Amino acid sequence: MNRAISDEIVDEIRTRCNIVDIIGSYIPVKKAGHGTWKALCPFHQEKTPSFNINEQRQHYHCFGCGKGGDVFNFVMEREGVDFPNAVHLLASKCSVVIPEKTYSNPEERRQSQERVNQRERIYAINEEFAAWYAAQLHEHPASPVAQYLLTRGIPDDIAARFRIGAAPDSWDASFKHGAALGFSEHELFESGILTSNESSGKMYDRFRNRLIFPIWNEQGKVVAFSARTIEKNSEGAKYVNSPETPVFKKGNILYALPLARQEIQKLGFVILCEGQLDVIAMHRAGFCNAVAPQGTAFTDEQARILKRYTDKLYISFDSDSAGIKAAVRALEIVLPMDFEVRIIQFPAGRDPDEIFRESGSEGLKLMVDGAVDFFEFLCRHILSQFDQTTPFGKSRSVAEAIPFIRKISQPVARDLYIQKLAAMLNVKPDTIYQELNKIRQNESSAFRSIVKPAADNGQAADASLKEQPIDIPADIIHAEETLLALSLNFEDVCLRLSADLSTEMISLTPIGKALNELIKLTINGEWSNANASLAKINSECSDARLSMFLAAPEFSMDLIGSKQSMALTKDPAKLEANKHKAVSDNIAAIKKYFYEKQRTELMNRLRNASTPEEKQELMKQLNAIIMPLSSHPPRKA
Ligand code: CTP
Ligand code: MN
Repeated sequence: MNRAISDEIVDEIRTRCNIVDIIGSYIPVKKAGHGTWKALCPFHQEKTPSFNINEQRQHYHCFGCGKGGDVFNFVMEREGVDFPNAVHLLASKCSVVIPEKTYSNPEERRQSQERVNQRERIYAINEEFAAWYAAQLHEHPASPVAQYLLTRGIPDDIAARFRIGAAPDSWDASFKHGAALGFSEHELFESGILTSNESSGKMYDRFRNRLIFPIWNEQGKVVAFSARTIEKNSEGAKYVNSPETPVFKKGNILYALPLARQEIQKLGFVILCEGQLDVIAMHRAGFCNAVAPQGTAFTDEQARILKRYTDKLYISFDSDSAGIKAAVRALEIVLPMDFEVRIIQFPAGRDPDEIFRESGSEGLKLMVDGAVDFFEFLCRHILSQFDQTTPFGKSRSVAEAIPFIRKISQPVARDLYIQKLAAMLNVKPDTIYQELNKIRQNESSAFRSIVKPAADNGQAADASLKEQPIDIPADIIHAEETLLALSLNFEDVCLRLSADLSTEMISLTPIGKALNELIKLTINGEWSNANASLAKINSECSDARLSMFLAAPEFSMDLIGSKQSMALTKDPAKLEANKHKAVSDNIAAIKKYFYEKQRTELMNRLRNASTPEEKQELMKQLNAIIMPLSSHPPRKA
C-alpha cells in the first residue's frame, strides 16, 4: 500500500476518531471517571483490568504489560498491521477519504473523484437537513408535527438525542432551503430530499408535514431520513423513507447503532426492535443497546454487523402475526451465525413503545428480563399450528422444527434442543435424529451443512462436524476464483455480489471464505481496507492459490485466465461490458449449482418421505427451487 499519506490526512483522522470509541469497538470498556476508561488488556492475559484509556489525551496504556500509545498504535497492535494500513482502517471508520489510489488513466481518476464528491455532497445535504428539520420542530412548538410529538410523550431531551425533526407542511420549503444553501435541484433529488412526479417530472419535497427521524450509518453520519405521518388514519404511507442513494443502502443500516454500540458491548447483548419509536422507548427505559432494521426486513448484512459487537441477540418485535413471522425469519438468518437468541414477548397487540407509555421503564424491563429462549418461542409457535393430539400433528411439528434445528451450528446446543423438542412432543429423541439423518445423507459437506448424524457412536458424529471442502466441481471453483479476482479489483463488483449471492451459496474453501469476507467488508464500506482481514484468512488456511491472489490483486485476473478479455482492455466501455458479463455468468453458475444441490437433496428426501403431508411439503419446496433454475432473472444491483 502507498506510504505517502499526508500528515493532514493523518491529523484529520486523529481528530475525527475518538480513541474510546475505537477501542470500544474492539473490546468492552468501562468508564472509570475523570475522562478515563478501563478495560481488560487485549494484549495480555489478565483477570483485573489494568488497561487504561485517557480520553482527553487520546492515549492508552496498560500497567500490566506496558503497551501504550495513540489510536494508530492500538489498531496496529490489535490488527497486526503496519502504520499505513492502520491509517486506512481508521480512515474508513471515520469516513475520511484518502486520495492515494493510482489510476490507469485520467478519466478513471476523474470518475472516481466525482463519485467521492457526490457522496460528500449527499452527506453534507443530509447533515444540513437533519439540523434544519430539528430546528423546524424546535422553533414551531405549536405546529401540528410538534403537537403530534407531544401526544407520543417524547420529551425534548429525547427528541434532541435522536435529532427528531419536523418537515414543514409545504411542497417546496425543503427545496428552497436547499437552494439557499447552494445545493442544486439535481443534488437535492439525488440525496432523496426531493422526489419527482412520474409523468410531469416536476420536483417537489419528499417529506411534508411529517415527523422526521434522521438515520445514521455506523460512523454516525446522517445517510437518510424516515418520516412518520402525523395523521391518525392517513391516506398516504405511514412512513416515507429516503430512497437508496450512494450513501444509503437500507439493508445494511441499523437505526441508532452509533448510539447503541457501546452499550451493546457493555451489556453483552443487543435488542432488535421493529422501528424507530420502539428503539426510542427501549433507550428511554435504560436499554440503550436497542437498534432496528431500517425500512426493510432484517437482513444477513445487518446480522453480520451486529455480530461484530455481540453474540447475543434479543428480538423485540410486535406480538401480532406479522411480528411473529418477522421474528421467525430473523431466526433463520441469525441461528447459523452462532447467535444466542432470546425473544421478548409482549402482551397481545402491543409493541415496546406502547408498553413504555403504559407502564414505564419498569414495565419494559420486566418484558426484557422475561425474554424466552428462542426455541421455546419457536416450538410454541409451531406446536400451536398443528393438532398435537394426533400422530400426524406431531409429525408435522417435527418437520417444521427441523429446519431450525439444522441451523443451530453448535452441536451441544443442537442436541439439547432436540431433547427439548422430543420431550415437548413426547416422542423419542432418536426419532428426531432419524429425520435429521434423512437429510444429511444427501448433502455435500463443502457447503454450510450442519446436519449431524444421530450418533450410533458419538465420535462418528463429531468427525462429521468438521467442514471439509470436498467435491466441488472445477467450474464452481473457477467461478469463485473469478469473482474473487474481480472483487479484489473492483468495488462495484463486490457490491453486486453482496446483493446477488447469499453467504450459504459460497463455498467454505479458502477462496470462498475470502470472498465472503470481502463481501462483508465491502458492505461495511471497508473494501479498500480488506487486506488485513483477508491476510488473516490466508494465514489461517495457508492456501497457495489464495496467497497468489492476495499478493497481487491486479494480476489475479491473469491467474484465472481472463487476461485478454479484461486486464488489458483499456477501453472503459468495453471493460465494463466484459466485467458485467463475467460477473453475471459466474453468479449464474454458482446459483445454478446451489439450487441443483438443494433440489437433489429434496428429491432424495422425497424418496424417503413417509407421510403424504411430508411429501406435499417437500414438493412445495421443490417447486420453489425449480423456478430460479429455469430462468436466471438478473437482480438489479
Ligand atoms: N416502516 C416503514 N414503512 C412503512 C411502515 C413501517 O419503513 N410503510 C418501518 C418504520 O421504520 C417503522 C417500522 O417499520 O418504524 C415499524 O412499523 P410500525 O410497527 O407500523 O410502526 P411503529 O414503530 O409501531 O410506529 P407507531 O408506534 O407510530 O405505530
Ligand atoms: Mn408503535
